[in-house]
Amino acid sequence: MCGIVGYIGNQKVSGILLNGLKRMEYRGYDSAGVSILTDGSIETIKKSGKVAQLEKLVDHTQFDSTIGIAHTRWATHGEPNDINAHPHHDSSNKISIVHNGIIENYAILKKNLIEKGYTFRSDTDSEVLAVLIGALYDRVKNMEEAVRYALNEVEGTYGLCVLSVYEPDKIIAARRGSPMVLGIGEGEYIVASDAAAIIQHTRQVIYLSDNEMAILTRDGYETKTIKNEKTTNTIHEIEFDLEQIEKAGFPHFMLKEIFEQPDTFRDSFRGRLLADKGNVKLGGLTQAEEQLRKAKRILITACGTSWHSALVGEYIIENLAQIPVEVEYASEFRYRNTPLYPDDIVIAISQSGETADTLAAVYETKQKGATAIGIVNVVGSSIARSTDAGIYIHAGPEIGVASTKAFTSQICVLALIGLYLGRMKNLSQSDGKRIGAAMLEIPNQIEQILNKSDEIKAMAKKFTKSRNFLYLGRGYNFPVALEGALKMKEISYIHAEGYPAAEMKHGPIALIDDNMPVVFIATKDEIYEKVISNIQEVRARRGKVIAIASEGDNDITNYADHVIYIPNTVPMLTPVLAVIPLQLMAYYMAVELGCNVDQPRNLAKSVTVE
Ligand code: F6R
Repeated sequence: MCGIVGYIGNQKVSGILLNGLKRMEYRGYDSAGVSILTDGSIETIKKSGKVAQLEKLVDHTQFDSTIGIAHTRWATHGEPNDINAHPHHDSSNKISIVHNGIIENYAILKKNLIEKGYTFRSDTDSEVLAVLIGALYDRVKNMEEAVRYALNEVEGTYGLCVLSVYEPDKIIAARRGSPMVLGIGEGEYIVASDAAAIIQHTRQVIYLSDNEMAILTRDGYETKTIKNEKTTNTIHEIEFDLEQIEKAGFPHFMLKEIFEQPDTFRDSFRGRLLADKGNVKLGGLTQAEEQLRKAKRILITACGTSWHSALVGEYIIENLAQIPVEVEYASEFRYRNTPLYPDDIVIAISQSGETADTLAAVYETKQKGATAIGIVNVVGSSIARSTDAGIYIHAGPEIGVASTKAFTSQICVLALIGLYLGRMKNLSQSDGKRIGAAMLEIPNQIEQILNKSDEIKAMAKKFTKSRNFLYLGRGYNFPVALEGALKMKEISYIHAEGYPAAEMKHGPIALIDDNMPVVFIATKDEIYEKVISNIQEVRARRGKVIAIASEGDNDITNYADHVIYIPNTVPMLTPVLAVIPLQLMAYYMAVELGCNVDQPRNLAKSVTVE
């Protein structure tokens, strides 16, 4: 949510900043801006809209400067217009900042500053921080101190970069609750919300911690807490490659990521699944092994798509390990005094590893003395670093705002955890082997579904006039119904609801008429017949039935208007296959309707605010 980048080094900065913004645009695209230090003054160019709009205004020949900061915004305070765009300046235009996060006490700070004669131009909370730093500089005449004092006064969260004409060869960065990664290059430093903006320059990075500042000059960098205590940081290596954050010939990141799923699913179990032994090896859980062995209850918490995979995980873990599992939205978990005991395990699932509510749920878990385990994609992210143990899903960077490959990889890891716990308890080796063998088949089976993309595209075209969709599934496929509906609404803006199929008759059935497409996930399992009865109920009311069905099920053509077949697997892995046609259907529908698939309106990839 908001992407920020700052650069100091030996190359012309304007192109570097714009490139960095493009790499992070999925974090927010309401407005964009740059501040470049040139000839003793700060040149700021900012514009509502996407980075492409800003790029038209930046004349690279105008700037020889090698230091600057930039921002791409997801609006919280103040509408997304030119004035509210970042960077923001202090009252005297000598200091410029870019900020990701929320300054919660901005109103009182602003009132105090206005009373002292300082002036404001925008409606944003971030400008208050800029003006506050300026006011403090007026007093202490030292940028580092001014920033430090300001950060001790503000409440809320920040990822921050500060540039000033007072100390022209310095960028000060800081973090509390919003990610900041510092790239250490040859004679250059680049600091950003996301390693994607850094990798072109260097693979060597430091992940700043909460309440930590980095002071970057042309000669080196220092890190300190905002209480002025020196800190030391481990230098990490960025694990992904540049190609992974490019479209590789696909028209959209979302389509690329859908098509990556055979590989990403395989990467999630690679080196962990011991299929011939019916077991798994999960190094990331070693530190929590004892707690897992004696766990009486598991709580899984997450948001959005990750919450849907959590629901699949609940069914898998209860089935394989016979441990009671509850699933809760992280936003509810954190505020409702959930009872937690030292023997409880809380699993936090997050693609970005930065979702504010999920991170807060992890803190709450640890505060109450339970064990927190992360299932995270982004290496070095806040959730990955705050949990007691964890497993990376290894899906590689997910850039499309609508989550796809993370969902299937999360289910893969949840199935591995189910096997791990199951084999610790009563799950037989032969059952473990059967599930392991099924898991090995999944990448090829996803490939087979992807080969039907033209068929799915043709079907999607038939429904572009529909304004509502219902998605129904039971058992393991109920969360798939929720996920299919979420994909449809977030990228095509068509209203869609997911329901457990049998719940339909308790209300949603009233919506069904001959204009209502109903997507059934009706794979062959022990409740197949029940789902067929639900299909009949829709047919009787002239609803249009789209069925995701198991290969070989010829009967279903008697009940459904359209059938997409998926290969057979064990029921607990069906969601991984059943979701693929639904991802493709939402994608093709959105493209057909002319929607911006990778940057749907009002959304951002990493939700770092509450
Ligand atoms: C939907 C989507 C969101 C995220 C949610 C949680 O396509 O992407 O619903 O799943 O914001 O994000 P993470 O997994 O990063 O915590």
